[in-house]
Amino acid sequence: MSHHIYPLSHYLLLLLPLFFIIVLSAEINNSTCPSYTCGNVTIRYPFWKMDTESPTQFCGYEGFEIKCSDNGEQHNISEITLGGDNYYVQCINYDDKSMLVADYDVSSAVPGPKICPRVNHNISLGTLPLNLSTYSVNLSFHFNCSGCPSFATEIPCLDNNGRKSCLGTSTEETEEWDGYSCYEEVVTAVIDEHKKKSSNFQVDFGSVLEKGFGLQWGRTDECEKCEESDGRCGNHSTTGHICFCSDGTISKNECGGTFIITTLKFQFYPCLSILV
Ligand SMILES: *[C@@H]1O[C@H](CO)[C@@H](O)[C@H](O)[C@H]1NC(C)=O
Ligand SMILES: *[C@@H]1O[C@H](CO)[C@@H](O)[C@H](O)[C@H]1NC(C)=O
Ligand SMILES: *[C@@H]1O[C@H](CO)[C@@H](O)[C@H](O)[C@H]1NC(C)=O
Ligand SMILES: *[C@@H]1O[C@H](CO)[C@@H](O)[C@H](O)[C@H]1NC(C)=O
Ligand SMILES: *[C@@H]1O[C@H](CO)[C@@H](O)[C@H](O)[C@H]1NC(C)=O
Ligand SMILES: *[C@@H]1O[C@H](CO)[C@@H](O)[C@H](O)[C@H]1NC(C)=O
Ligand SMILES: *[C@@H]1O[C@H](CO)[C@@H](O)[C@H](O)[C@H]1NC(C)=O
Ligand SMILES: *[C@@H]1O[C@H](CO)[C@@H](O)[C@H](O)[C@H]1NC(C)=O
Ligand SMILES: *[C@@H]1O[C@H](CO)[C@@H](O)[C@H](O)[C@H]1NC(C)=O
Repeated sequence: MSHHIYPLSHYLLLLLPLFFIIVLSAEINNSTCPSYTCGNVTIRYPFWKMDTESPTQFCGYEGFEIKCSDNGEQHNISEITLGGDNYYVQCINYDDKSMLVADYDVSSAVPGPKICPRVNHNISLGTLPLNLSTYSVNLSFHFNCSGCPSFATEIPCLDNNGRKSCLGTSTEETEEWDGYSCYEEVVTAVIDEHKKKSSNFQVDFGSVLEKGFGLQWGRTDECEKCEESDGRCGNHSTTGHICFCSDGTISKNECGGTFIITTLKFQFYPCLSILV
């Protein structure tokens, strides 16, 4: 008899209430993985706000903690520490998993003159699940050189007692700098578009630097199972990696039941508006 055979759409209709139940339960208890607003930045999973999580556990990725501080002006500012260095977080885009950050030493959010900023450290992402975003490019500053190679740009305001400061692209081979006896090399990044738009990079590199660069995040292997079971990763000081499940429970690696649907409403301040 064929009356038992329904078109596929009938089955989907039957599944509809189930769909909603799953979607609702997928909203992880916000008291476990809360979100905050800090100035222009929404801090939510996988980021977490320092000082608000309990001292023994947090919900978010290790190394993704954001410090919210008052810069004495209208807005609170967000800071992240990468490889021991502070960066000002300008915006986080949870849709494409990217953020715009600027080195504290050159950031306009931090008081002090930025006319001829000196970058003091490399960008160190270490083992964090972070990559430079596609719209960013690396730059390499070479300080205290005997001269600048022809492929590099001299930065006169950073010259020091007759020793030159040169700007390369960081794609050159190390040997290409041999013979210029530079004292130090520092690799940083800027947004490609801003660099291209600059009419005199030699002079206004500071304003390009202060606009920051983009980072994209992925997830760590140990977090994969947890997130795929609709949980959120965290860490506990004694047990280490933990998984916050949508039913409010906390498990070690993954949550019971595998939900493939995750609908989370993101409130975000578009990073792209800063890019144009
Ligand atoms: C949890 O979320 C609900 C609605 O999304 C909101 O009304 C409530 O204030 C939130 N609670 C906390 C503790 O953030
Ligand atoms: C927040 O955004 C506004 C408008 O885009 C901007 O003027 C302001 O400088 C931003 N504040 C911070 C702390 O980034
Ligand atoms: C800055 O953050 C503090 C809490 O950290 C909050 O009390 C204050 O209202 C915030 N200020 C602004 C301007 O958002
Ligand atoms: C740019 O610098 C970052 C951070 O140091 C590094 O991870 C990346 O591999 C570099 N990219 C290129 C193309 O050199
Ligand atoms: C240049 O080198 C001298 C020592 O040769 C050092 O004291 C100084 O800090 C260096 N300057 C820069 C900008 O690296
Ligand atoms: C930055 O990285 C380059 C290699 O990419 C290295 O040669 C240089 O010493 C590093 N600079 C600092 C200040 O660590
Ligand atoms: C970073 O880029 C490398 C190589 O392109 C890729 O294998 C890795 O998965 C990326 N990591 C993240 C966190 O996106
Ligand atoms: C994560 O948990 C481990 C314990 O396994 C602990 O040693 C570590 O300090 C925790 N990390 C953070 C950032 O609290
Ligand atoms: C969220 O957590 C609070 C306290 O931790 C609890 O009372 C509440 O039932 C939880 N809500 C859900 C939907 O799990």
